Amino acid sequence: MLFIPTELLRPNMVLAKDVNLLITDTFSLPLLRRGQVLNELFIKKIKFHNVSGVYIDNKIADDIIVDDIINEKLKATVLSDIKKNFNQYKNNRGEVNIHIVDNIARMAKSLVLDILSNDEILINLIDLKSYDDYTYRHSLCVAILSITTGISLNLNEHMLTEIAMCALLHDLGKMMIPIEIINKPDLLSPEEYEIVKKHPTIAVDQLRKKHLVSEAVLSGIASHHEKYDGTGYPQGLKGNEIPLYAKILAIADVYDALTSTRSYRRACFPNEAIEYVMGCAEVHFDYEILRAFLKNIAAYPVGTFVSLSDGNIAVVVRNLQINPIRPIIRIIYPDGTTSKNIDLAQDLNYANITIVGMGYENPNFAYSN
Ligand SMILES: [Fe+2]
Repeated sequence: MLFIPTELLRPNMVLAKDVNLLITDTFSLPLLRRGQVLNELFIKKIKFHNVSGVYIDNKIADDIIVDDIINEKLKATVLSDIKKNFNQYKNNRGEVNIHIVDNIARMAKSLVLDILSNDEILINLIDLKSYDDYTYRHSLCVAILSITTGISLNLNEHMLTEIAMCALLHDLGKMMIPIEIINKPDLLSPEEYEIVKKHPTIAVDQLRKKHLVSEAVLSGIASHHEKYDGTGYPQGLKGNEIPLYAKILAIADVYDALTSTRSYRRACFPNEAIEYVMGCAEVHFDYEILRAFLKNIAAYPVGTFVSLSDGNIAVVVRNLQINPIRPIIRIIYPDGTTSKNIDLAQDLNYANITIVGMGYENPNFAYSN
């Protein structure tokens, strides 16, 4: 399968994976099913929901499989559970109860166990969020990214579950902030920004009063917008004053936001988001935690097109954790034929060839079915 950004989708392309656009209280509903032949109307629908791109089937990439780090069924269940619990919290006017916390704890545990069951943990995550359920998908993605970072840092299972809880709860407080402010595409006014800045503590105050979660989880949620140089909020904590869970969450939160399509901009590709977060080391993020985070991120996800320094374009066949910037690739020549698989990390004939960026804007990118 191949990843095609939404703006390059054409009629007659065939979906290789379901496109999930709606989350209900009981399940996550695919809008378009795997095997669906795209037409103008479907492409419009995908665009309307701000999905950054989809996977399609093609004979040049029949053998290329994109595995998710968590199984589809768990993903669908967790998404609908997050939505259900967040809405319950909102309907209770910001009252957190034991049922919500129990549910979140159960989800956290399931996610940790599912991720730990992978042989190799490498995130091939390309954003598939739609704008109307951004908050729920964001919570899930931040949880996945935080757990994998925790694994790189050798945290034990108890701590991994705590960090997953932090991630699932980190933006719960946003449910109590007017939706017009949360979804505002323009710059916030100073007054609006002050309101947004309350979201880390809104939920924490409630949870603390009722002694529903550990202090480590509370401080992780409360401090997820603190910055390493002390310019964050709500307390302006600096360096190691920031709790470990909050440092992890901060990176996962920003990385996921960057790689998500919003109504006002396209999603960054992983290689662009990696550049950005690297540029924030020791300013926004703790460098050691950032290194642990990046260990699991594929800069060029499987199924995406990359531009090579010799002018060719190639599709990424496989990523290996040992060298996440030198994947196994397959060149696609302008006549539609392909090379054999080339392992950029091992094949000395290609040692001088580098990936210079994504291939979608390369003049040789003339994709046809
Ligand atoms: Fe936040």
